[in-house]
Amino acid sequence: MGIHSPSSKSFTRLENILIIGSGGRENSLAWTIQKNELIKKVYLMPGNAGSERINKCERINIDIKNKYELVEKLNFFKIDLIVIGPEIPLANGLADFLRKKDFKVFGPGKDGAKLEFSKSWAKEFMQDANIPTANFWKVNSLEEAKKIIHSTSIPLVVKADGLASGKGVFIPSSKDECFRAAETIFNGRFGNSGNIVVLEEKIQGPEVSIFALCDGEKYILLPSAQDHKRLNEKDKGPNTGGMGAYSPAPLLTENNLDRIIKEIIEPTIDELNKRNIDYKGVIYFGLMITKSGPKVIEYNCRFGDPECQTIMPLMDQNFVFLLEKCSMGNLTGNEKINTFDKVSGCVIATSKGYPDEYKTGMPITIGKIDSNDCQIFDSGTSLSENGELLTDGGRVLSIVCQDKDFDMAFEKAYKNLNEIKFDGIYFRNDIGHQVRKNFSKEN
Ligand code: AMP
Ligand code: GLY
Repeated sequence: MGIHSPSSKSFTRLENILIIGSGGRENSLAWTIQKNELIKKVYLMPGNAGSERINKCERINIDIKNKYELVEKLNFFKIDLIVIGPEIPLANGLADFLRKKDFKVFGPGKDGAKLEFSKSWAKEFMQDANIPTANFWKVNSLEEAKKIIHSTSIPLVVKADGLASGKGVFIPSSKDECFRAAETIFNGRFGNSGNIVVLEEKIQGPEVSIFALCDGEKYILLPSAQDHKRLNEKDKGPNTGGMGAYSPAPLLTENNLDRIIKEIIEPTIDELNKRNIDYKGVIYFGLMITKSGPKVIEYNCRFGDPECQTIMPLMDQNFVFLLEKCSMGNLTGNEKINTFDKVSGCVIATSKGYPDEYKTGMPITIGKIDSNDCQIFDSGTSLSENGELLTDGGRVLSIVCQDKDFDMAFEKAYKNLNEIKFDGIYFRNDIGHQVRKNFSKEN
């Protein structure tokens, strides 16, 4: 099969980039991509109110479902490379469609996106390739779930098989809660995503996110990152999309990383190849470093958010070339990533009530910001008719700062965050507590 068959647009211009998506992840990708002097324009489809504050960026609104209009507009804008941010269009095969229309696309086809959109498929994939992960049972009915829950003595995690915007994972503390979680999923809380339930052995250890840019065969790793999924300080409260992150993750020693490469990353890419899946995009490895070694908690077929917002400012202007090489199957695997010898910290400001109900439309004021190695990436914002910046999501915006160490990076981030006001603003003050040496003294 033609893993390395370059499209007819290979080695042509790289001037106009399209990024599909509307969050902080997509704005951070745009921010880094536009640094390259070859790039004339970065279009965000649809982007958000923060997108056009970024140099060279313009929002466009095309209905993805109207395939004819989509192709016509992409040709009109002379798009040279398309980067697909979120998992849903990837799971729906948008990358396959655009590749067939001869566009260069960074993002896996539907077959590769299955790593994320079917947890049971991903578990079987790992089992076949002998990739370390928690033991699991794939179940098709509540009866079946009940039998397993009652017959095992180990603590279990309960997951909806399909996409559920990060809400389909339950961590019960008793057999009864476990059973109720399975019932909730089978009762249709997540629609068709809950037709199958995965019961998993509960494993323990710190988590780390690793991103491999993949061209179908070769790969290159971005700096690692750790995010804070829980809503409240001390990593308590409900799971969210992510309240902040830092990069790189010092937890990942060279030893650990070697093991992760040998036992997880390379076997994953080999298994994709074995299954004739030509994966051109990023593979997100959500890992847990357990006592018995690193294990995969989940795969995603996209960049993590807020990890992506945290990592992007560490990338130099060559980053866009990596995306292009992946899209064409042209990585050498020896590309160097220059991180400016800095670390990066990101804190997300959310709307009160998130991850449940929250209000939108609150005016945002931004005071005096120290812009030296600091970025504001909007995640959920809109503009009023008179151009006022408003909240328009649970995660509203993030402050990302880089410096020589995490204490300095987070000090800047929190100083800047105090200059940002909107009604109901909420953020955690302890993002990066694991890596801020001054943190315990301050608190
Ligand atoms: P996921 O959406 O699969 O990343 O799951 C969300 C979170 O649930 C993860 O980041 C972990 O903290 C936790 N989790 C998922 N699977 C397991 C497991 N098998 N054992 C322990 N914790 C888990
Ligand atoms: N930060 C977790 C995610 O993007 O799924």
